[in-house]
Amino acid sequence: MSYCTRILEGIGTEIGFVASGATAYAVPVVISKKYEHMISDEQLVIIHDTHYPSTLFLGVLRKLTRYEPFLRERVRTVYVDYPELISESELYTFTNVVALLYAELDTKEGVAHECIHAPFPGSKVYLVERGEYLSKFLRVNNALEVGVHKFSDWVLPLDPKYLTYHVGVFGATGTGKSRLIKALIDEILKKTDYSVIVFDHTGVDYVPFYRDYVVPSDTIKISPPLIASVIAKLANLSWSTYGDYLEITCMEYVTGGKRSSKQVQLQSICREVNNGIVLGGCWSKKKFIEKLTANITNLGGRRATARKAELFIDYYLDDSFFDSLNQRVLPPKYIVEKALRERLVVVDLSRDRELAIKQAIVKDVMEEVWRLVKEYQRPVKVGIVIDEAQNYVSEEWSICGDVIETTVREGRKWQYFVILASQRVARDIRPSVRANLGTVFFSRLQATGDLRELGGYLDLGGVTEASLAQLGTREFFVAGLMNPLRRPILIKVREVS
Ligand SMILES: Nc1ncnc2c1ncn2[C@@H]1O[C@H](COP(=O)(O)OP(=O)(O)OP(=O)(O)O)[C@@H](O)[C@H]1O
Ligand SMILES: [Mg+2]
Repeated sequence: MSYCTRILEGIGTEIGFVASGATAYAVPVVISKKYEHMISDEQLVIIHDTHYPSTLFLGVLRKLTRYEPFLRERVRTVYVDYPELISESELYTFTNVVALLYAELDTKEGVAHECIHAPFPGSKVYLVERGEYLSKFLRVNNALEVGVHKFSDWVLPLDPKYLTYHVGVFGATGTGKSRLIKALIDEILKKTDYSVIVFDHTGVDYVPFYRDYVVPSDTIKISPPLIASVIAKLANLSWSTYGDYLEITCMEYVTGGKRSSKQVQLQSICREVNNGIVLGGCWSKKKFIEKLTANITNLGGRRATARKAELFIDYYLDDSFFDSLNQRVLPPKYIVEKALRERLVVVDLSRDRELAIKQAIVKDVMEEVWRLVKEYQRPVKVGIVIDEAQNYVSEEWSICGDVIETTVREGRKWQYFVILASQRVARDIRPSVRANLGTVFFSRLQATGDLRELGGYLDLGGVTEASLAQLGTREFFVAGLMNPLRRPILIKVREVS
């Protein structure tokens, strides 16, 4: 018995045959009466054509359609006038489906190729019920495994080589995006030597799973210009009038007016943090207002400008804001070094309420990784997870939008990648970022038009919004570079708890 025949006997049931009109892309299949009920869209099939004895065609079923030769939609039948007759008469129903060809499996070499042949009419079609047979042909080194093909239980091997082309996860709320990313993080930690920094926007998606690796965001330092913009925003002071004064004051506050002292201060903090001692700074509302008003007057501002700053900061910002700045003793460098040492850091951003501060932390940490790249000129092997990405890199301007965009455009060479998740594609993610996501997982989508958006960058192989609407929790299509078949395969994400 040939190897090819052995596979056909083991892989699953023979369900039908190829009809007329096959191309190397799409193959019409007629389903045998006995198996019509077993068939649904997204199942995998193998087609065997005796003209190519050592090749098996692998396809995905789409556009399942039921027919009846006499009940044609545009032809008047007797049942229009006598609908009760339909239960008494015999109907000649049959089922056709299209198999979209994804690969040709070479049974001699045990490898998969692009499809270049069209199977002849009459070729036999087998349902893939035991997906493990496919693993012999679609081998991936150190494959990341986050789930199985929904119908065949084939563990889809995701190629970690393409992580550096970045990953997007999209789906309506509750579809399981965060759990899918959790599965991906675990696989990355197990199968690769990348370090991962997770920004947990709400503190409920990743923090509970990785308690030993959590750093509360309100312990992370933010740079003086970013403190200035946060104060302006919270105190309702216009940036055009107060921006310079605030930046100067914050910078002086941190450095004591001298650049070198900042470096000394940073070094001592790092040393203390590494020794397990965390020291606070010396921010206080009273002192800050004094310094700011003095600066405004000394730098030629009007008395009214200084008075307004004093009143507004006093009114809108309470002492706890300045106290919280005192808790911020960990420089972003510490987060990156910790991630490189321990392979994982989860930044609990729920500890900061202000979105501007959360964005500032993402920016500072991601820029710190770039600083390392520039300093050492060698790959850093770091992945950044940004869930709820609509808050960080949407089409509107954000503090950290540019550094995320730079990473997505230029990170690959330095093995510095990003995993983004959000409910929507358009609007939630900048066009230049979403167009650079090499691998995309998508489930039921929030907005019509989002699938079309994805279709602009990926071959969606005929997946329609109607097919997405049917998906349940944990069901995602995966398309793009990490999927060895590249075109969408429907997976059920493994149990993550
Ligand atoms: N792989 C999984 N294993 C176990 N439970 C899951 C899995 N995926 C989803 N769930 C269940 O569905 C719920 C929602 O999942 P998750 O939080 O990942 O969705 P989401 O798409 O990130 O939603 P949101 O857009 O609101 O953040 C989880 O709390 C969990 O109960
Ligand atoms: Mg989520």
